[in-house]
Amino acid sequence: MSPERGFVTLSSSKGERPAVAVLFRVPDAVLARLRERFTVVDLAAVPRTEWAPALRDVVGVLASSNVRLDAAFFAEAPALKIVAMQSVGYDNVDLSVLRERGIMLSNSRGSLVEAVADLAYGLLIMAVRRLGAAMAWARSGRWLAEGDMPYSHDLAGATLGIVGFGAIGQAVARRAHASGMNVIYHARTARDDDAHTGASYRSFEDLLAESDCVVALLPLTPQTRGMFNDAAFARMKPTATFVNAARGAICDTGALLRALEDEQIAGAALDVTDPEPLPPDHPLYAREDVVIVPHVGSATIETRTRMAMLAAENLIAYLDGKPLPTQVRI
Ligand code: 8YV
Repeated sequence: MSPERGFVTLSSSKGERPAVAVLFRVPDAVLARLRERFTVVDLAAVPRTEWAPALRDVVGVLASSNVRLDAAFFAEAPALKIVAMQSVGYDNVDLSVLRERGIMLSNSRGSLVEAVADLAYGLLIMAVRRLGAAMAWARSGRWLAEGDMPYSHDLAGATLGIVGFGAIGQAVARRAHASGMNVIYHARTARDDDAHTGASYRSFEDLLAESDCVVALLPLTPQTRGMFNDAAFARMKPTATFVNAARGAICDTGALLRALEDEQIAGAALDVTDPEPLPPDHPLYAREDVVIVPHVGSATIETRTRMAMLAAENLIAYLDGKPLPTQVRI
């Protein structure tokens, strides 16, 4: 690292090639791919407060959902033309600045479907079969002292309600069908291919009332923020579980805690939280009916590499004046 500049320039030809900044750690193969075409500024190990000089000339950034791209960030990058996200979600990006300045946006849709579906479905199994509580039962000696723990419930024959029925939601539906679950879904618009997806549309309210397990897989928007609130949990069955693999803020954390405390629902499993990370002393961690994992839906080596490479290919397509492989129209 150059101590004066506080960031790493991976190509010595800065000035000859357009510059892009990588805002978090990506695999070496992705840096190498970018270096074929760009001067690459690697900010992964640089504190956010020291980014400004490095951002001044960049035409592109490779960003992810946990880096806040707000008005202050964009003010530091006056030459920016493209934001390539290593994430499917882009709720961390101030879209009004992108629109004003005509900055292009791409995401990594399609590259993380199976990994996130596996994680969401794994959480569902953990919650319904009460595996967190089961681990505690064995570890604490209750297995030895008391024998069997209280029984959980079958997946087969139960109804899964998926809220947000894009590619990941449909991949979760396939897994649920393999377990013998009935699948219903809610999305902004009803689809016309129920025979293909094996899932039928419900209003949000009906889905909540009918489901034995509700899995949230929808983007965070002004409309979906806080959608799982007191009223939503009150509609759910007392035996139902709630799984959030979308964004923490689609759920009112206080309302979730109240719903669990008041036994309006039976359990929850969260890959995402609000705030994120959830502080370790949060009461949700103390509950055996709650499973919390640290936003690991897409966090496999293969998937994260594919996501980052897709973001790099979007930056290169921009440079070549070609259509971006996964542009987001905003
Ligand atoms: C990751 C995600 O958190 O794709 C998304 O929207 O939330 C995740 O896959 C993110 O990309 C971390 O880099």
